[in-house]
Amino acid sequence: MKRNVQEEVAKLISEMTIEEKVAQTSQLAYTQMPKERAEEYARKGVGSFLHVLGDDAKHLQDLATSNGKKIPLIFGIDAIHGHCLKKNATVFPTQLSMACSFNTELVEQMADATAKEVAADGLHWTFSPVLCLGRDIRWGRVAETFGEDKYLAGELGSAMVRGYQGDDLSADGKILACAKHYIGYGEATGARDSYDTEVTYRKVRAEFLPPFERVVKDGCASIMTAYGAIDGIPCTANKKLMTDILKTELGFEGFVVTDWDNVRHLIRKQCVAENFEDASEIALNSGNDMMMKTEDYIEAAVRLVKEGRVDESVLDEAVRRILTAKMELGLFDNPYKRLDESVIGAAEHQQLSYELAKECVVLLKNEDVLPLKKDEKCKKIVVIGCNADSVRDMYGDWTYFTHPDPNFDAEPVRPYVTFIEGMLGLKDDFNCEIVHAKGCGILENDEAQLDEAFKLIADSDLVVYTFGDDIYQTGEAKDRADMSLTKAQGEVFDRLTKTGKPIVSVMIASKPMCVPEIVENSKAFLTAFNPGAYGGKVLAETVFGLNNPCGKLPISFPNHVGQQPCYYNYLPGWHCKKYVDMPQRPLFVFGEGLSYTKFEYSDVAFDKDSLTLSVKVKNVGERAGKEIIQVYFRDVVSSVITPVKQLIAFKKIELASGEAQEYKFTFTEKDFSLVLPDERRVMEKGELEVMVGASSDDESLIKICFVQDKTVEIK
Ligand code: GLC
Repeated sequence: MKRNVQEEVAKLISEMTIEEKVAQTSQLAYTQMPKERAEEYARKGVGSFLHVLGDDAKHLQDLATSNGKKIPLIFGIDAIHGHCLKKNATVFPTQLSMACSFNTELVEQMADATAKEVAADGLHWTFSPVLCLGRDIRWGRVAETFGEDKYLAGELGSAMVRGYQGDDLSADGKILACAKHYIGYGEATGARDSYDTEVTYRKVRAEFLPPFERVVKDGCASIMTAYGAIDGIPCTANKKLMTDILKTELGFEGFVVTDWDNVRHLIRKQCVAENFEDASEIALNSGNDMMMKTEDYIEAAVRLVKEGRVDESVLDEAVRRILTAKMELGLFDNPYKRLDESVIGAAEHQQLSYELAKECVVLLKNEDVLPLKKDEKCKKIVVIGCNADSVRDMYGDWTYFTHPDPNFDAEPVRPYVTFIEGMLGLKDDFNCEIVHAKGCGILENDEAQLDEAFKLIADSDLVVYTFGDDIYQTGEAKDRADMSLTKAQGEVFDRLTKTGKPIVSVMIASKPMCVPEIVENSKAFLTAFNPGAYGGKVLAETVFGLNNPCGKLPISFPNHVGQQPCYYNYLPGWHCKKYVDMPQRPLFVFGEGLSYTKFEYSDVAFDKDSLTLSVKVKNVGERAGKEIIQVYFRDVVSSVITPVKQLIAFKKIELASGEAQEYKFTFTEKDFSLVLPDERRVMEKGELEVMVGASSDDESLIKICFVQDKTVEIK
């Protein structure tokens, strides 16, 4: 019989003490306290723990549901590209890697599989998806984003929320999603983690709110406040952001959880509160519903409510949102809901990780050297450089190597296929010799090994150079000022260029690097960012042509870190549009990626009454392939400065050699809108340009204009 959730929650709240209510608004970090203290908190009815795995969760649930009001705990975990903090779970490509696929169906399936594995561990909630925009590669957490574009982030984030939550949260294998970090975290000045983001609310609404708006409409169950601040007001202290915009204007019905210890950071880092009472008062009255990690919040909040500094109705509303989520999850019916553990790392999930990784490979340069062919003269191939054999650096951040505590030298757990394993696995099929002569690490070289490697290279037909970054250089609180090759890797590549051998360069890194010298001196250049357990396999299969690459960049590659930010949707008005000592065009642009076949676009038409674009695409190459059609627009004359182009649609298609199809895209006025200084959103009258093609490069876009007769306010 369907529960009347709101009635039952209201009744439960009416029977709870202030202490019990405050406890429900607290989420504690299991790995950060003695087990006995965690058990005591569970007995006292704390709302949630994070970073608990498997049987420990069951034990804590036993204590919570046999004491006090017997309210079940909700367990949260960072399962952000699979349940990767768990050693035998399936490891998927990271968000930035997944974003290269532009494939919403596969991303939804990945989230569904991840939800099943989290649920099979007896947990209920993942702190995913990340909807921050990665617009400056110096930021340590760019790899956690879907890249630089708000529309792509919204579509893929929405697919993830659907995958995690499904249509019925109480169903087995469904978990709460958590869109994060609200808001503008990746836009901090200098790309400095948790630093202030100096933007107006107009810019917040125009650039950073749309992905969150998208997932709120989808019923995303929770949202996490960012560490940072908007124009000097910490996100966790920002009533306008959390209550006025998110809850009142957008109608968000889930609950807001702070990021790690944000209440303490108001005192210790951002210095906007003197003590835990002040910080807790600010946090509750701004609209945070659950406080992550900060134990001192609990006693302080009880005092605040008893002294009337925080109205009990504010506490009740936070508890209502939390208990509603727990009840909708089905935890009051079955606090131990979980799938069979055999689901964790299941073969079908491994296959999905492989299929997804195939679509994450981005081929960025190819001077007719790839794919390698069986009858090719390439009989002797030497693979040199780092990361070709590193599971940890193929996976990237937020896995058992990195969290909940760093374990960088952990023994990797099968199944996985590194790049060198993938290459060696194909040598017989392609009748070639492949030797791995690593030669260098990220930061230091082994001269003896290098000399050996270069002897082999002297006798080779082709060199595959692998390079990238490693887990010490990427992730939270690991921003970088220099994004070029490390000295050690640069020395090896420089020596390689002097051998005269053809070079195929493969980047296995968390995010773009500034490597113009590699692109210039390589015959081919490909990447897949951190592509998950089968990343090495799909990269090798791409080199040998078993996989036809179809990935496209969700983020720009600058020539030099000084060129940052260099996202594609820049604003007009920069005098001479470039630095005098730098090419204007980034090394690679948003939406760019090559295939082993070729697609032609034609017959573009736009019907302004129905706001419908039609385009014909033909595969004019020799083999089947997948393409990502992209549609951009520009408001030719607008009352505020608007970007030179903005992505408003994309479509992943597959065509056989010689096959042609027509595709239609129907838009709304909101797709062509802008945000005025008074924060209203309008589609303005005047000329608009629609562009369709294979990347954000002007040369690859067909443009068509139409005139909007009147300005329309978007409600
Ligand atoms: C971290 C991250 C956040 C994560 C949370 C819990 O510091 O900022 O993304 O979900 O703490 O691990």
